[in-house]
Amino acid sequence: MRLLFVGDVVGRSGRTAVTERLPVLKRDWKLDCVIVNGENAAGGFGITEAIYTEMIDAGADAITGGNHSWDQREALVFIERAPRLVRPLNYPPGTPGRGMVLETASGARVLVINLMGRVFMDPLDDPFAIAERELSACALTAAADAIVVDMHCEATSEKQAMGHFCDGRASLVVGTHTHVPTSDHRLLPGGTAFITDVGMTGDYDSVIGMNKAEPLHRFVRRISSGKFEPALGPATLSAVAVEIDDATGLATRIAPVRLGGRLEEARPTFWD
Ligand SMILES: [Fe+2]
Ligand SMILES: [Fe+2]
Repeated sequence: MRLLFVGDVVGRSGRTAVTERLPVLKRDWKLDCVIVNGENAAGGFGITEAIYTEMIDAGADAITGGNHSWDQREALVFIERAPRLVRPLNYPPGTPGRGMVLETASGARVLVINLMGRVFMDPLDDPFAIAERELSACALTAAADAIVVDMHCEATSEKQAMGHFCDGRASLVVGTHTHVPTSDHRLLPGGTAFITDVGMTGDYDSVIGMNKAEPLHRFVRRISSGKFEPALGPATLSAVAVEIDDATGLATRIAPVRLGGRLEEARPTFWD
């Protein structure tokens, strides 16, 4: 299976990169499954139903979230009729939506698990206990052909710990939230593909996707002068490409993808 995981889409610039590039990538790379983190898609804060539909139409099979999942209040309602919208599984019981989705993409069963870390973040339920519960209930190949864990998290240590915790039981553990791609993409010893952070899909001439002026003002003056607004320059589509063995559900290759915008281009060579 050929899988692409696209990092946090930030604002209009990030959405444009997705709608323009994803259909082409899906065709050229013969992608079986595309997962997109959409927690910053609506002006940097959350996701609307129209944007959800736009990204599904562009080729996303599932859209994950994070600490910004509920910034657009309509998400609390439309998530119930958006079967491909996934929210962190470790929110308290009774939270709308679902933390996981078992979708068929190209005839395959893909389990998508979205979790939020607790270090330097609003602490939710234990993501490791929830990962254990889900992975025990849904074993690779028996109940799912691929399992993807989006570990939405501030601390690099917590993301790496989750990678090792799931090693051999998930196809991919991918870190999101910090919006800067790390260069440690690799296969863990048990066969799980891993990267500490996939990076954002947004304008990198910014402070983590936001127009530089306001973050700079707050850091320098310690006073807010207005709202955070997404930077509007050309976005880099930042993602990881993962090849998954159909027989085992484990990964055989992982490569970074960075297309357009201000970062140096990177693309997988194993699908040429
Ligand atoms: Fe984000
Ligand atoms: Fe986040």
